[in-house]
Amino acid sequence: MCAQIILIMSEKSPFPLIQTPHFLLRQIVATDLTQIFRGMSDPRVTEYYGISYETLELTQAQLDWFELIYETGTGIWWGICRRDEPQHLIGTCGINEWEQDDHCAEAGFWIFPEYWGKGVMLECLSAMLDYCFTKLSLHRMQSMVEPDNPASWKLIEKLGFQLEGILRECERKDDRYVDLRCYSLLAREWRNRVQPQATIVHFPAST
Ligand SMILES: CC(C)(COP(=O)(O)OP(=O)(O)OC[C@H]1O[C@@H](n2cnc3c(N)ncnc32)[C@H](O)[C@@H]1OP(=O)(O)O)[C@@H](O)C(=O)NCCC(=O)NCCS
Repeated sequence: MCAQIILIMSEKSPFPLIQTPHFLLRQIVATDLTQIFRGMSDPRVTEYYGISYETLELTQAQLDWFELIYETGTGIWWGICRRDEPQHLIGTCGINEWEQDDHCAEAGFWIFPEYWGKGVMLECLSAMLDYCFTKLSLHRMQSMVEPDNPASWKLIEKLGFQLEGILRECERKDDRYVDLRCYSLLAREWRNRVQPQATIVHFPAST
């Protein structure tokens, strides 16, 4: 996967812009609020995601969190856009719980349902992992996924993540406790493997 990593210099700090063959992973800005709300209020997206918002106003907390983790060096979340529509966010991916001393972090991701099953997140996460392991010198990337969410755990397995075990009933959801599948990927495993190639079928019309 050939991804180009460009650093955009700003007065405060450089935010890394990542270019993949079809997408831009760029900083999430105030004008993305509507699209973030659209994603994070869609039950198909949030069913296994853990966070959802009921109003545009409440969704501002998510944008504030993106900014906070970036400013405090505890994470980076990117807005995913098609290269031909760089203003139009179609999803997000990123890392949080970034432990700078231990060189580990946790990955998360979502995109709009009309883009599912087209290889979008495979292409974007490949580029993000490349960036994290090479430029951020991460040693270990972790991801926690619900067993009922095969789209997510098959995606990360395809990227080389290994299942470490099941955290039994570790999360409370509605009125029940749910298991989480705990996955990790180490930098040397990422470097030594043949990277999967995403095949983008076609894009839906803009929404
Ligand atoms: C998980 C999610 C990001 C996957 O994105 P995507 O762009 O559709 O995934 P891709 O098309 O790149 O698929 C890559 C691989 O993942 C696996 N995969 C993706 N969707 C799948 C599905 N519905 N069922 C089974 N496997 C699936 C496949 O192995 C696929 O490779 P293949 O098509 O060659 O078999 C998307 O479904 C989503 O946004 N879900 C809601 C949010 C969410 O659950 N986030 C994670 C919370 S932990």
